Amino acid sequence: MKAPVAPAPVPGVAKLAPYEQGKSDIPGVVAPIKLSSNESSLGPSPAAVRAYRGAAEQLNRYPDGEQTALRRAIAEVHGLNPDQIICGNGSDELILLLMRTYLRPGDEALLSENGFEMCRIHCLAQGGRPIFAAERNDRVDVDALLARATAKSRLCVIANPNNPTGTYVTAQELQRLRAGLPGNCLLVIDGAYAEYVERADYDSGAALVAAGDNAVMTRTFSKIHGLAGLRIGWAYGPPPVVDAVQRIRTPFNANGPAMAAAAAAVRDAGHVQRVRRHNAEWLERIATRLAELGLRMIPSVANFYLIRFPDGGGKDGAGAAAFLMRRGIIPRPAASDQMLRITVGRAHENEAVLRALADYLAV
Ligand SMILES: Cc1ncc(COP(=O)(O)O)c(C=O)c1O
Repeated sequence: MKAPVAPAPVPGVAKLAPYEQGKSDIPGVVAPIKLSSNESSLGPSPAAVRAYRGAAEQLNRYPDGEQTALRRAIAEVHGLNPDQIICGNGSDELILLLMRTYLRPGDEALLSENGFEMCRIHCLAQGGRPIFAAERNDRVDVDALLARATAKSRLCVIANPNNPTGTYVTAQELQRLRAGLPGNCLLVIDGAYAEYVERADYDSGAALVAAGDNAVMTRTFSKIHGLAGLRIGWAYGPPPVVDAVQRIRTPFNANGPAMAAAAAAVRDAGHVQRVRRHNAEWLERIATRLAELGLRMIPSVANFYLIRFPDGGGKDGAGAAAFLMRRGIIPRPAASDQMLRITVGRAHENEAVLRALADYLAV
């Protein structure tokens, strides 16, 4: 047989367009207001920064491949079993590892219309088929997901709260989703924004993990903990899932300084609470002020908000994004030109956004 002329990537890879991250600069603007990636505008806990600096003394050493100290810190704070926790290079890596562990070529991953773009990319790279379920009223639609489940569905991944809508499904709906999925389909609950939610009917997924063998929760230190630059996240799953994923995890996927900072961050409950309060207060204020401008914000429980511009008004999300950029503010354009996603920032940043939107509507 004749050898191929050049190395060829596996079939799924050819179908992929690279992930596009939120913009971080504006040509000619020295210090733009970056509200494009749902990072924490309040930054990390000072204790996390101290732990990170302390870890600099140990850069010649490999990190603890068993991730013991961080798993213990997470377990203590969240009341979980440390043996069921795996840490990784952002929650993105944990989702990748779950896809690699459970998805064979031709298998299907059930995804919601919106959600974390990397799920589609990881699925295709595995040779899997991403199957998208439509959302209803800007929310993940459990019935639509269940209607699309087949014998080939191996994973179902939803972000709760969802991105870019910022909405959530209740604990009861999550339970219904899990109960309706085939038993061999793993439900992955991506809780990147879980810590921001202050609703009694919300469950980050921990209860579902405890109640069976086919649900996993992923979490991150990139959002409320303000450590996006360090790339550290974690997953909590039933023992058989954790055992399977541990077999393919590279031993040092979570680096030492990141784990040291994360352990300090998760223990700083005061910082987490301050960030959560700031976010909730501003979400409320922003919703009121946008309504005064005649703009509708989809009710968000996360650290960002999606504005839907009215049809036919001559103003839209794409136009607003360009206007904001001229004011030195970087939002995240949405898939639809009618929409615009903006991260909740510091007080002066939010004020700058609201002023710019008012001016955009007035011109
Ligand atoms: C819904 C959702 N899931 C996961 C992630 C990935 O986070 P991490 O930084 O932990 O990889 C993001 C990042 O923006 C996200 O929006």
